[in-house]
Amino acid sequence: MNTDLIQNIKGKFQNNFKDIPLMVFSPGRINLIGEHTDYNNGFVFPAAIDKGIVVAINKSTETGSKIIASDLDEVLDLSLEHPKAIENGRWKNYVIGVVAEIQKKGKNINNFNMVFGGDIPRGAGLSSSAALENGIVFGLNELFNLGLTKKEMIFISQKAEHDYVGVKCGIMDQYASMFGQKDAALLLDCENLNAKAITINLKDYEILLINSNVKHSLAESAYNERRLVCEKVAAILNLKSLRAATEKDLLSLKGQITDSEYQKAIYVLQENQRVLDSFDALKENNIEQFGKLLYRSHSGMQQQYKISCDELDFLVDIAKNSDTVIGARMMGGGFGGCTINIMHKASISKFVTNIKKAYKANFGVECSIYNVTISEGTHLI
Ligand code: GLA
Repeated sequence: MNTDLIQNIKGKFQNNFKDIPLMVFSPGRINLIGEHTDYNNGFVFPAAIDKGIVVAINKSTETGSKIIASDLDEVLDLSLEHPKAIENGRWKNYVIGVVAEIQKKGKNINNFNMVFGGDIPRGAGLSSSAALENGIVFGLNELFNLGLTKKEMIFISQKAEHDYVGVKCGIMDQYASMFGQKDAALLLDCENLNAKAITINLKDYEILLINSNVKHSLAESAYNERRLVCEKVAAILNLKSLRAATEKDLLSLKGQITDSEYQKAIYVLQENQRVLDSFDALKENNIEQFGKLLYRSHSGMQQQYKISCDELDFLVDIAKNSDTVIGARMMGGGFGGCTINIMHKASISKFVTNIKKAYKANFGVECSIYNVTISEGTHLI
């Protein structure tokens, strides 16, 4: 955890509110494999990381609540009576959404002051939004003794994102951020939220993220469109979700759905299987097999689900053509953000120099490299 960040947020709270706050750390996440499977009630394989959002929070005796976004130097003055989303409100809508959803559950909160900030690069696909939502709900739950369980809290976070931000996300990010375990990835069944933790020990390999530093603007609308396609196909099959579909079911729909819809649905089924196969491969320490599954996952997202972009494909292609990277793929919602790479420890620095140079030459943008440590979920500091 970033102790400078914690001191900084705490200091800002004390300067602004002359009071000692409750401190919460809420992490971002990586996902080893399983993209766009969560809202299909499928499997995902995420882990919480050591980068995240720090929330400083305490009760207020004023007539309203005040929230300061430290990194942006912006303030939200919030009335707790009928909180409503603000047009183009960005981060403010996460706060408003969480507060409103807590109230909808019949829980009472009073005015509060809050300062938050973080070290998750924005737009990198590392779930800074889920980290923020979870940090707020966790802080308010402690502060006002709301008695919410962690499961209730993640559904509040998700609902805030659906209805106040407009992204119809699945549950993976909120789950991973809240329930993360040190050194372990979680094989999560999104149908019932059963999870199996597995210690990640990649031996001669390590996980490296490469941020493309691009985020194409269609990302959010394209995300919601993908979800609609999946729901449409499941509905035609009379199923609750694509989780229950088989490849045979999908074949029977030829003529009723477009080829592009067929490809998307088949991607979901295959990606679900890749998640389960990855879990088995890691259990058997078969890193090579795990790497192959990552590359296949990327092709699926590139060619079938169509959520990649030139920058991500470029990074994965270079990885594939090197001896250093045993597996790589784009990570998260798509259209930008990071690739996740499983790299041989011995030759990382040479690879990094080469890929940075090639990326800059091709796109005129720098890519960034992050080492991540798998860490504990949302908690009090
Ligand atoms: C975003 C969403 C998640 C998940 C991923 C794609 O991060 O918030 O729910 O759907 O995209 O796997």
